[in-house]
Amino acid sequence: MTYETILTEKRDQVTLITLNRPKSLNALNSQVLDELIDAFSAFQADETQNCAVITGSGDKAFAAGADIKEMYDKSAADFYLEDFFAKWTSHIVKATRKPWIAAVNGFALGGGCELAMMADIIIASDKAKFGQPEIKLGVAPGMGGSQRLTRAVGKAKSMDMCLTGRMMDAEEAERSGLVARVVPHDQLLDEGLKSAATIASMPPMAAQVNKEMVNAAFENNLEQGLVHERRLFQILTATEDKKEGMAAFIEKREGSWKGR
Ligand code: CAA
Repeated sequence: MTYETILTEKRDQVTLITLNRPKSLNALNSQVLDELIDAFSAFQADETQNCAVITGSGDKAFAAGADIKEMYDKSAADFYLEDFFAKWTSHIVKATRKPWIAAVNGFALGGGCELAMMADIIIASDKAKFGQPEIKLGVAPGMGGSQRLTRAVGKAKSMDMCLTGRMMDAEEAERSGLVARVVPHDQLLDEGLKSAATIASMPPMAAQVNKEMVNAAFENNLEQGLVHERRLFQILTATEDKKEGMAAFIEKREGSWKGR
Protein backbone atom coordinates (compact mmCIF):
# COMPACT_ATOMS: atom_id res chain seq x y z
CA MET A 1 0.00 0.00 0.00
CA THR A 2 1.31 3.48 -0.86
CA TYR A 3 0.86 5.92 1.99
CA GLU A 4 -0.19 9.54 1.46
CA THR A 5 -1.03 10.63 5.00
CA ILE A 6 1.61 8.82 7.05
CA LEU A 7 5.32 8.04 6.74
CA THR A 8 6.93 4.82 7.91
CA GLU A 9 10.53 3.94 8.43
CA LYS A 10 12.40 1.00 9.98
CA ARG A 11 15.28 1.83 12.30
CA ASP A 12 16.88 -1.49 13.20
CA GLN A 13 14.18 -3.26 15.25
CA VAL A 14 12.01 -0.17 15.65
CA THR A 15 9.30 1.03 13.24
CA LEU A 16 8.73 4.78 13.19
CA ILE A 17 5.28 5.90 12.03
CA THR A 18 4.71 9.63 11.46
CA LEU A 19 1.27 11.18 11.00
CA ASN A 20 1.81 13.45 8.02
CA ARG A 21 -1.00 15.95 7.44
CA PRO A 22 0.70 18.97 9.02
CA LYS A 23 -1.59 21.50 7.27
CA SER A 24 -4.57 19.94 9.07
CA LEU A 25 -2.56 19.50 12.28
CA ASN A 26 -2.47 15.76 11.49
CA ALA A 27 -6.25 15.43 11.86
CA LEU A 28 -7.30 11.80 11.68
CA ASN A 29 -9.53 11.03 8.68
CA SER A 30 -10.56 7.70 7.17
CA GLN A 31 -7.52 7.59 4.92
CA VAL A 32 -5.18 8.07 7.89
CA LEU A 33 -6.99 5.24 9.68
CA ASP A 34 -6.75 2.88 6.68
CA GLU A 35 -3.05 3.64 6.26
CA LEU A 36 -2.35 3.24 9.99
CA ILE A 37 -4.16 -0.10 10.00
CA ASP A 38 -1.93 -1.25 7.15
CA ALA A 39 1.25 0.11 8.79
CA PHE A 40 0.49 -1.44 12.20
CA SER A 41 -0.43 -4.74 10.59
CA ALA A 42 2.91 -4.74 8.67
CA PHE A 43 4.73 -3.92 11.92
CA GLN A 44 2.98 -6.75 13.77
CA ALA A 45 3.74 -9.24 10.99
CA ASP A 46 7.41 -8.29 10.55
CA GLU A 47 9.61 -10.55 12.67
CA THR A 48 12.52 -8.09 12.46
CA GLN A 49 10.44 -5.38 14.22
CA ASN A 50 9.88 -5.47 17.99
CA CYS A 51 8.61 -2.01 18.94
CA ALA A 52 7.04 1.00 17.17
CA VAL A 53 6.93 4.74 17.77
CA ILE A 54 4.16 7.00 16.47
CA THR A 55 4.59 10.75 16.30
CA GLY A 56 3.24 13.76 14.38
CA SER A 57 4.92 15.76 11.63
CA GLY A 58 5.40 19.50 12.00
CA ASP A 59 6.19 21.35 15.16
CA LYS A 60 2.67 21.99 16.34
CA ALA A 61 0.61 18.86 16.60
CA PHE A 62 0.69 15.16 17.30
CA ALA A 63 -2.93 15.10 16.07
CA ALA A 64 -5.62 17.74 16.62
CA GLY A 65 -8.39 15.16 16.61
CA ALA A 66 -10.67 13.25 14.30
CA ASP A 67 -11.17 15.22 11.08
CA ILE A 68 -14.04 17.57 11.82
CA LYS A 69 -14.49 18.41 8.12
CA GLU A 70 -15.00 14.72 7.31
CA MET A 71 -17.51 14.26 10.14
CA TYR A 72 -19.50 17.43 9.46
CA ASP A 73 -21.96 16.02 6.89
CA LYS A 74 -22.49 12.59 8.38
CA SER A 75 -25.80 11.69 10.03
CA ALA A 76 -26.18 9.72 13.26
CA ALA A 77 -27.29 6.75 11.16
CA ASP A 78 -24.12 7.04 9.01
CA PHE A 79 -21.94 6.98 12.13
CA TYR A 80 -23.81 4.04 13.59
CA LEU A 81 -24.07 1.99 10.40
CA GLU A 82 -20.36 2.48 9.63
CA ASP A 83 -19.62 1.78 13.31
CA PHE A 84 -17.46 4.87 12.98
CA PHE A 85 -14.28 4.74 15.12
CA ALA A 86 -14.65 0.99 15.84
CA LYS A 87 -11.60 0.01 13.80
CA TRP A 88 -9.27 2.08 15.96
CA THR A 89 -9.76 -0.42 18.75
CA SER A 90 -10.34 -3.61 16.75
CA HIS A 91 -7.73 -3.15 14.00
CA ILE A 92 -5.04 -1.17 15.81
CA VAL A 93 -5.25 -1.60 19.60
CA LYS A 94 -6.36 -5.25 19.67
CA ALA A 95 -4.47 -6.34 16.56
CA THR A 96 -1.12 -4.90 17.64
CA ARG A 97 0.25 -7.26 20.26
CA LYS A 98 3.76 -5.82 20.05
CA PRO A 99 4.48 -2.73 22.19
CA TRP A 100 4.35 0.77 20.74
CA ILE A 101 5.05 4.25 22.06
CA ALA A 102 3.35 7.59 21.29
CA ALA A 103 5.90 10.41 21.13
CA VAL A 104 3.57 13.39 21.53
CA ASN A 105 5.13 16.46 19.95
CA GLY A 106 2.33 19.04 20.34
CA PHE A 107 -1.48 19.14 20.40
CA ALA A 108 -3.02 15.76 21.20
CA LEU A 109 -6.70 16.69 21.17
CA GLY A 110 -9.85 14.61 20.84
CA GLY A 111 -8.94 11.64 18.65
CA GLY A 112 -5.28 12.72 18.91
CA CYS A 113 -5.33 12.32 22.68
CA GLU A 114 -7.26 9.09 22.21
CA LEU A 115 -4.70 7.75 19.73
CA ALA A 116 -1.88 8.59 22.14
CA MET A 117 -3.75 6.73 24.89
CA MET A 118 -4.06 3.66 22.64
CA ALA A 119 -0.27 3.40 22.76
CA ASP A 120 1.39 1.40 25.53
CA ILE A 121 3.56 4.31 26.68
CA ILE A 122 3.20 8.05 26.10
CA ILE A 123 6.35 10.17 26.07
CA ALA A 124 5.55 13.87 25.80
CA SER A 125 7.48 16.87 24.60
CA ASP A 126 7.43 19.74 27.10
CA LYS A 127 5.28 21.56 24.50
CA ALA A 128 2.63 18.82 24.34
CA LYS A 129 -0.98 19.61 25.18
CA PHE A 130 -3.69 17.04 25.81
CA GLY A 131 -7.43 17.51 25.72
CA GLN A 132 -10.86 16.08 24.95
CA PRO A 133 -12.58 19.19 23.56
CA GLU A 134 -15.37 17.30 21.74
CA ILE A 135 -18.01 18.86 24.00
CA LYS A 136 -17.34 22.18 22.28
CA LEU A 137 -18.42 20.55 19.01
CA GLY A 138 -21.65 19.29 20.56
CA VAL A 139 -20.37 15.73 20.81
CA ALA A 140 -18.22 13.61 23.11
CA PRO A 141 -15.13 11.40 22.79
CA GLY A 142 -15.70 8.51 20.38
CA MET A 143 -12.34 6.76 20.14
CA GLY A 144 -12.09 5.73 23.79
CA GLY A 145 -11.32 9.04 25.48
CA SER A 146 -13.94 8.90 28.20
CA GLN A 147 -12.80 5.38 29.13
CA ARG A 148 -9.01 5.44 28.68
CA LEU A 149 -8.57 8.96 30.06
CA THR A 150 -10.62 8.15 33.15
CA ARG A 151 -8.60 5.02 33.80
CA ALA A 152 -5.36 6.96 33.28
CA VAL A 153 -6.02 10.12 35.31
CA GLY A 154 -9.07 9.25 37.43
CA LYS A 155 -12.61 10.64 37.46
CA ALA A 156 -11.81 14.13 38.78
CA LYS A 157 -9.39 15.15 36.03
CA SER A 158 -11.22 13.25 33.32
CA MET A 159 -14.56 14.93 34.12
CA ASP A 160 -12.82 18.29 34.29
CA MET A 161 -11.26 17.81 30.87
CA CYS A 162 -14.29 16.28 29.15
CA LEU A 163 -16.81 18.75 30.56
CA THR A 164 -14.78 21.94 30.12
CA GLY A 165 -12.77 20.88 27.06
CA ARG A 166 -9.69 22.44 28.62
CA MET A 167 -6.19 21.35 27.71
CA MET A 168 -3.67 19.79 30.07
CA ASP A 169 -0.03 20.69 29.57
CA ALA A 170 2.76 18.10 29.62
CA GLU A 171 3.72 18.76 33.22
CA GLU A 172 0.15 18.26 34.47
CA ALA A 173 -0.19 15.21 32.22
CA GLU A 174 2.86 13.61 33.82
CA ARG A 175 1.71 14.52 37.32
CA SER A 176 -1.72 13.02 36.56
CA GLY A 177 -0.35 9.73 35.27
CA LEU A 178 -1.31 10.25 31.64
CA VAL A 179 2.25 10.26 30.32
CA ALA A 180 5.26 8.24 31.38
CA ARG A 181 7.85 10.95 30.83
CA VAL A 182 8.23 14.54 29.66
CA VAL A 183 11.36 15.44 27.69
CA PRO A 184 12.62 18.65 26.07
CA HIS A 185 10.87 19.23 22.75
CA ASP A 186 13.99 18.88 20.61
CA GLN A 187 14.90 15.55 22.23
CA LEU A 188 11.48 13.94 21.92
CA LEU A 189 12.07 11.74 18.90
CA ASP A 190 15.50 10.59 20.09
CA GLU A 191 14.10 9.74 23.52
CA GLY A 192 11.12 7.93 22.01
CA LEU A 193 13.35 5.91 19.68
CA LYS A 194 15.79 5.17 22.51
CA SER A 195 13.03 3.79 24.75
CA ALA A 196 11.67 1.81 21.81
CA ALA A 197 15.13 0.37 21.12
CA THR A 198 15.40 -0.72 24.77
CA ILE A 199 12.03 -2.46 24.56
CA ALA A 200 12.96 -3.94 21.18
CA SER A 201 16.08 -5.49 22.72
CA MET A 202 14.02 -7.44 25.28
CA PRO A 203 12.86 -11.01 24.64
CA PRO A 204 10.05 -10.31 22.12
CA MET A 205 7.51 -12.75 23.46
CA ALA A 206 8.09 -11.61 27.05
CA ALA A 207 7.49 -8.03 25.88
CA GLN A 208 4.15 -8.98 24.36
CA VAL A 209 3.15 -10.95 27.46
CA ASN A 210 4.05 -8.06 29.77
CA LYS A 211 1.95 -5.73 27.61
CA GLU A 212 -0.97 -8.17 27.65
CA MET A 213 -0.83 -8.43 31.45
CA VAL A 214 -0.84 -4.69 32.06
CA ASN A 215 -3.67 -4.27 29.57
CA ALA A 216 -5.71 -6.88 31.44
CA ALA A 217 -6.20 -4.19 34.10
CA PHE A 218 -8.27 -2.30 31.50
CA GLU A 219 -10.88 -5.02 30.87
CA ASN A 220 -14.55 -4.12 30.72
CA ASN A 221 -16.85 -4.93 33.58
CA LEU A 222 -20.60 -5.54 33.67
CA GLU A 223 -21.47 -2.03 34.78
CA GLN A 224 -19.73 -0.48 31.78
CA GLY A 225 -21.36 -2.96 29.46
CA LEU A 226 -24.80 -2.08 30.80
CA VAL A 227 -24.22 1.66 30.39
CA HIS A 228 -22.98 1.10 26.86
CA GLU A 229 -26.08 -0.94 26.07
CA ARG A 230 -28.41 1.74 27.48
CA ARG A 231 -26.73 4.49 25.48
CA LEU A 232 -27.03 2.54 22.23
CA PHE A 233 -30.65 1.85 23.02
CA GLN A 234 -31.23 5.56 23.54
CA ILE A 235 -29.56 6.35 20.20
CA LEU A 236 -31.79 3.83 18.43
CA THR A 237 -34.85 5.70 19.65
CA ALA A 238 -33.85 8.44 17.16
CA THR A 239 -34.37 6.12 14.16
CA GLU A 240 -37.36 6.01 11.82
CA ASP A 241 -37.54 2.27 12.38
CA LYS A 242 -38.20 2.80 16.10
CA LYS A 243 -41.17 5.02 15.27
CA GLU A 244 -42.46 2.57 12.69
CA GLY A 245 -41.90 -0.48 14.90
CA MET A 246 -43.80 0.92 17.83
CA ALA A 247 -46.56 2.32 15.60
CA ALA A 248 -46.89 -1.10 13.90
CA PHE A 249 -47.25 -2.78 17.31
CA ILE A 250 -49.92 -0.36 18.49
CA GLU A 251 -51.77 -0.56 15.15
CA LYS A 252 -51.50 -4.36 15.19
CA ARG A 253 -49.75 -4.65 11.79
CA GLU A 254 -46.36 -5.75 10.41
CA GLY A 255 -43.61 -3.11 10.40
CA SER A 256 -41.90 -1.88 7.24
CA TRP A 257 -38.23 -1.07 7.78
CA LYS A 258 -35.97 1.66 6.38
CA GLY A 259 -32.78 0.43 8.08
CA ARG A 260 -32.12 3.80 9.73
N1 CAA B 1 -10.19 18.38 11.94
C1 CAA B 1 -10.01 18.99 10.76
N2 CAA B 1 -9.19 20.03 10.57
C2 CAA B 1 -8.52 20.51 11.63
C3 CAA B 1 -8.66 19.93 12.91
C4 CAA B 1 -9.53 18.82 13.05
N3 CAA B 1 -9.71 18.17 14.20
N4 CAA B 1 -7.90 20.63 13.78
C5 CAA B 1 -7.29 21.59 13.07
N5 CAA B 1 -7.66 21.53 11.77
C6 CAA B 1 -7.24 22.38 10.67
C7 CAA B 1 -7.90 23.74 10.76
O1 CAA B 1 -9.20 23.70 10.22
C8 CAA B 1 -6.95 24.57 9.94
O2 CAA B 1 -7.21 24.32 8.56
P1 CAA B 1 -7.34 25.58 7.54
O3 CAA B 1 -5.95 26.18 7.53
O4 CAA B 1 -7.71 24.91 6.26
O5 CAA B 1 -8.36 26.48 8.11
C9 CAA B 1 -5.59 23.97 10.27
O6 CAA B 1 -5.85 22.66 10.76
C10 CAA B 1 -4.83 24.72 11.32
O7 CAA B 1 -5.67 24.87 12.47
P2 CAA B 1 -5.94 26.26 13.19
O8 CAA B 1 -5.85 27.38 12.22
O9 CAA B 1 -7.20 26.13 13.97
O10 CAA B 1 -4.66 26.32 14.17
P3 CAA B 1 -4.55 27.09 15.55
O11 CAA B 1 -3.11 27.04 15.92
O12 CAA B 1 -5.23 28.42 15.50
O13 CAA B 1 -5.39 26.20 16.60
C11 CAA B 1 -6.07 24.12 17.62
C12 CAA B 1 -4.93 24.91 16.93
C13 CAA B 1 -6.36 24.73 18.99
C14 CAA B 1 -5.57 22.69 17.79
C15 CAA B 1 -7.35 24.20 16.75
O14 CAA B 1 -7.01 23.81 15.43
C16 CAA B 1 -8.46 23.29 17.22
O15 CAA B 1 -9.13 23.60 18.18
N6 CAA B 1 -8.69 22.16 16.49
C17 CAA B 1 -9.79 21.28 16.76
C18 CAA B 1 -9.54 20.46 18.01
C19 CAA B 1 -10.73 19.56 18.26
O16 CAA B 1 -11.83 20.00 18.48
N7 CAA B 1 -10.49 18.23 18.24
C20 CAA B 1 -11.50 17.25 18.47
C21 CAA B 1 -12.09 16.79 17.14
S1 CAA B 1 -13.51 15.73 17.35
C22 CAA B 1 -12.86 14.24 17.76
O17 CAA B 1 -11.67 14.02 17.79
C23 CAA B 1 -13.92 13.17 18.07
C24 CAA B 1 -13.39 11.95 18.71
O18 CAA B 1 -13.59 11.66 19.88
C25 CAA B 1 -12.58 11.00 17.97
